[in-house]
Amino acid sequence: MSSSTGTTTVITDIATLVTNDPSLGDGSPLGLVRDAAVVIEGDRVVWTGESSKAPATDNRVDAGGRAVLPGFVDSHSHLVFAGDRTEEFNARMSGRGYTAGGIRTTVAATRAASDEELEANLTRFLSEALRQGTTTFETKSGYGLTVADEARALRLAAAHTDEVTYLGAHIVSPDYADDPAGYVALVTGEMLDACAPHARWIDVFCEKGAFDGDQARAILTAGRAKGLHPRIHANQLSFGPGVQLAVELDAASADHCTHLTDADVDALANGNTVATLLPGAEFSTRAEWPDARRLLDAGVTVALSTDCNPGSSFTSSVPFCIALAVRDMRMTPDEAVWSATAGGAAALRRTDVGRVAPGAYADLMLLDAPSHVHLAYRPGVPLVSEVWRRGVRVAP
Ligand code: NIG
Ligand code: FE
Repeated sequence: MSSSTGTTTVITDIATLVTNDPSLGDGSPLGLVRDAAVVIEGDRVVWTGESSKAPATDNRVDAGGRAVLPGFVDSHSHLVFAGDRTEEFNARMSGRGYTAGGIRTTVAATRAASDEELEANLTRFLSEALRQGTTTFETKSGYGLTVADEARALRLAAAHTDEVTYLGAHIVSPDYADDPAGYVALVTGEMLDACAPHARWIDVFCEKGAFDGDQARAILTAGRAKGLHPRIHANQLSFGPGVQLAVELDAASADHCTHLTDADVDALANGNTVATLLPGAEFSTRAEWPDARRLLDAGVTVALSTDCNPGSSFTSSVPFCIALAVRDMRMTPDEAVWSATAGGAAALRRTDVGRVAPGAYADLMLLDAPSHVHLAYRPGVPLVSEVWRRGVRVAP
């Protein structure tokens, strides 16, 4: 195989390759190939198949019987913040009530932080995530809640990812506690104008105590008029209008989906909106698990992500979320791995990531295990042994 765009590398002796392309492998959604090889040219995958049929190339990497799978696509995180909420978590896990400010605590710390502090935090969480196999991630604003602080968060995030989400509508800013309508006007007006150039997506926390269905519709519609595409924090803490609004507005994703009516499940099954499940949040708040089985059995496309944030889910580990999804949400290991890779890509409306197949970016990981099933079978064990992004080994 000749290379016109860069070095050509073959990774051989892969015990199990997850391609996420049924036409390339065993016909399952994961498109599994046993005794496989992958050929990378420049930043792209150009060939996958059985090792014995792999074309000759410049460089050869021996996977030594390890599994290879697409890099994780973490389609939901909140990484631009300062401070942490250790005391809040400790109180919750110790059965003590805790009345400190929740999201407001992080808003105050984030506003007070310098750009350098926020950048250092972001870089730390990203390198944590990368070491655990995440090669594509989305992240949001939402801890600034002023025009300048929201725009700053998005500007910092945009230096690290294309998948940046404006979440000025996380909660009503404490500065507008007596004037929620005034805050919605700010979020859809001056704040949107300042934020839209830095973002691809717009999100709303549609929940009692945050934003109701009408406010969420107004915010997402205003964002769409400025070229941002919607996604929604929907039905996390209670039943509500978020999921159906997401489908109505063709949002890429409805995130959390913990409290769903049959009509919500039907809407998701018949629409183009992915249901993104975030088990780190239920784990860290001891809340009821989303019913993944019900969604999958109805034919809904499910993504699995971390929701990494200092309040409800302070984990950057997709492998941990896979283990939770399998053990506690009754997803099969194959479904959980698909949802954390191809599912995340679908939630970001991307086809160039989330699969190891010709034409996709060469974003992949090698596991210290013969198959992807070990991610759930060996919970808490650091199995991700190598991470490649855009054809280059980036970790360790
Ligand atoms: O996705 N639900 C809203 N936002 C976050 C929690 C943020 C926080 O507690 O700081 C979530 O779980
Ligand atoms: Fe979230």
